[in-house]
Amino acid sequence: MTERLFLEALDLSAAKLLEDEKTLGVSFPYVTLASGAWDTMPASLSAGYQGANWSHGNWFCGFWIGLLTAAYLRTRDEKYLNLARERMLLVAPRANDGNTHDIGFIFYPSAIALFHVTGEEQYASLAARAADRLRRRLILTPRGSYISAWGPLNDVRGRRSSAIDTMANLPLLYWAAQYEDDASFTLAGEAHAIMTRGSFIRPDHSTYHAVEYDIATGVCARGFTFQGYADSSCWPRGQAWAIYGYTRTAEATGKRCYLDLAEQLSEYFLKRTGSSLVPPWDFDDPLVPNTLLDTSASAIVASAFADMAALHPDRKKGEVWAQRSRDILTILCERHLARDDAHRGLLRHGCYSKPHNQGIDSAVMFGDFFFVEALCSMVMPGELRTAPKRLSSDS
Ligand code: GLY
Repeated sequence: MTERLFLEALDLSAAKLLEDEKTLGVSFPYVTLASGAWDTMPASLSAGYQGANWSHGNWFCGFWIGLLTAAYLRTRDEKYLNLARERMLLVAPRANDGNTHDIGFIFYPSAIALFHVTGEEQYASLAARAADRLRRRLILTPRGSYISAWGPLNDVRGRRSSAIDTMANLPLLYWAAQYEDDASFTLAGEAHAIMTRGSFIRPDHSTYHAVEYDIATGVCARGFTFQGYADSSCWPRGQAWAIYGYTRTAEATGKRCYLDLAEQLSEYFLKRTGSSLVPPWDFDDPLVPNTLLDTSASAIVASAFADMAALHPDRKKGEVWAQRSRDILTILCERHLARDDAHRGLLRHGCYSKPHNQGIDSAVMFGDFFFVEALCSMVMPGELRTAPKRLSSDS
């Protein structure tokens, strides 16, 4: 029953991708507008400061390629692979963009997926170049090292900033460690994960969205938010990025402690989300439950739960996470799919940034990708990316 639902959602994605490709030109979709149509931007738009304001640029473009690749795997229709290859040409120059940690989000779902599916070295070379850029963002402090999130490293605002989102950019480093046979990529990712564990995670296992470090000492000077309700609130998508990133860190390092942490972060997420399995855009918005949702956070978590299930040394506990992943995906399929033509994208009711009034009650590109990644983990494990190997019970 759930398998049929999941396959239907993948079919819907494949059908909508082809329809949208006819209208996009060389731009890439990122969020839907109030009309239901995609808003788009070119892949070349880099991140940066405009005066005091930070702009994330186009960190979405790789997800579109990931969706095309997944559609190819579902349909085996070469059209999708050809579109993914054409789109990759537009995204490729961003492999030299050292301005943002989001280079992980750009190249993991695109170049690495294309390499995984086609075996063509050109895609691996691109991803390896991007991983090198991400590793270069490592900032050394006396208390450990972290990967700076935002902006050019010659700007102190960039050097001292760290975001919880970076945890989900680490898989690019972990992939490069394997591909290049260079453990320094994993060490860089793990160093970041350790520093994040100490600075972002509160005693109740909620998370800050961002922190600023005092680089001279490595002390966390303040926790704050960019897209959440308040500096002290818990932004569910940030919590989801943390769950996803610690799960992938457990996979890359083989260490159980990161899986344990991912489980604790997940219990917090589930406790606050309740039976709808879709969180509000911020857990601490005083208007909850009469406020916007963020389905993208559920999609990210569903993908992480599928990995936790595969990794867990205790198979019974693994089955609990697998069932939780299926439960979330079922609810997303039954209640939140954009089945009508007017609403582009796959998952409705995502929230990119309420404080910036961007992508509010929308389909958001990352929500669609992680939803599809999770569906692929369920119905075709190992095809979009390598399936995680079970951790040993004495890890
Ligand atoms: N910048 C990543 C996010 O919006 O979740």
